[in-house]
Amino acid sequence: MDKLTIGQTISQYYQILPPLEADILISETIKKSREFILTHPQFCLSDAQSRRLQKLAQQRLEGEPIAYLIKKQEFYGLTFYVNKRVLIPRPETEILVERALEFALPQKMLTVVDVGTGSGCIIITLAHLLQKQKKIDFKKWELIGLDISTAALKVARRNARAHQLDKYINFKQGNLLKPLKKLPQHMLITANLPYLTPQQFRQSPSIQSEPKLALVGGKDGLKYYRQLLQELSRLKYTSLKWAAFLEIDPSQKNTIIALVKKYCPNSELSFYADLSGYCRVIKIVNVTKTATLRSQ
Ligand SMILES: C[S@@+](CC[C@H](N)C(=O)[O-])C[C@H]1O[C@@H](n2cnc3c(N)ncnc32)[C@H](O)[C@@H]1O
Repeated sequence: MDKLTIGQTISQYYQILPPLEADILISETIKKSREFILTHPQFCLSDAQSRRLQKLAQQRLEGEPIAYLIKKQEFYGLTFYVNKRVLIPRPETEILVERALEFALPQKMLTVVDVGTGSGCIIITLAHLLQKQKKIDFKKWELIGLDISTAALKVARRNARAHQLDKYINFKQGNLLKPLKKLPQHMLITANLPYLTPQQFRQSPSIQSEPKLALVGGKDGLKYYRQLLQELSRLKYTSLKWAAFLEIDPSQKNTIIALVKKYCPNSELSFYADLSGYCRVIKIVNVTKTATLRSQ
């Protein structure tokens, strides 16, 4: 059989896949950039490459996300390794990173704790940007990524290594804030915990390949945020100052407000919308007068 050129391959796969997806799979298969494949129509694929491409296209047609097929996803301009044990980083989460960075930049020192770190995209991006924009002294700043899933933490560590930030980020396994042995003085919490209801999960065909553990947050989707807020409420008799940035489903805004009022009444709330204008990120700043509380 004659070997297929890129030009022939493109015309074949453009018939069954959206052109961008076909380009991504071809460029991944032959390990060349998209620009290369669009400008070298005469370049021949080996038989092994043609077979691999056929397999990837088949998996894509069966609904497998592109990111899992090519094992990577762009997030905030950085490339993250992903596999089926982690959520594929989403553009909405970039809003959380942007706002958390805005909060972190003016601070002299801070402990940043990313709860439910998954691929590590939030904490690694923050570390990267803090290093680049503020040249932070990693001896004073502590960066921690927490996850209940050991498999996810393996991915997060791999990504931290790839971005040369593994020396500065400590990844720990456990439930929510439990792995933190000692509490820092100033803590910034970022969390994109599972927040879908079982019904929302069932009704979204595009997310069926992603880990349910990363997506579903109990009956009302708020099981983990409720627990996290309870844990934070127990910190009120310490001298701790904290702020938290949480990614939520827009429909959960009012319930989250009620939960924050219940568990963390001495806090200020702000909300940030995603690109579609829906409330996606909530900022909670603890304004407890710690000195008074400690003397109570
Ligand atoms: C929605 S994913 C977010 C992953 C990543 N932070 C991101 O934004 O792409 C939620 C993550 O929370 C983790 N998780 C679920 N339950 C948890 C718990 N009780 N304690 C800590 N992490 C948990 C999951 O393993 C998953 O990696």
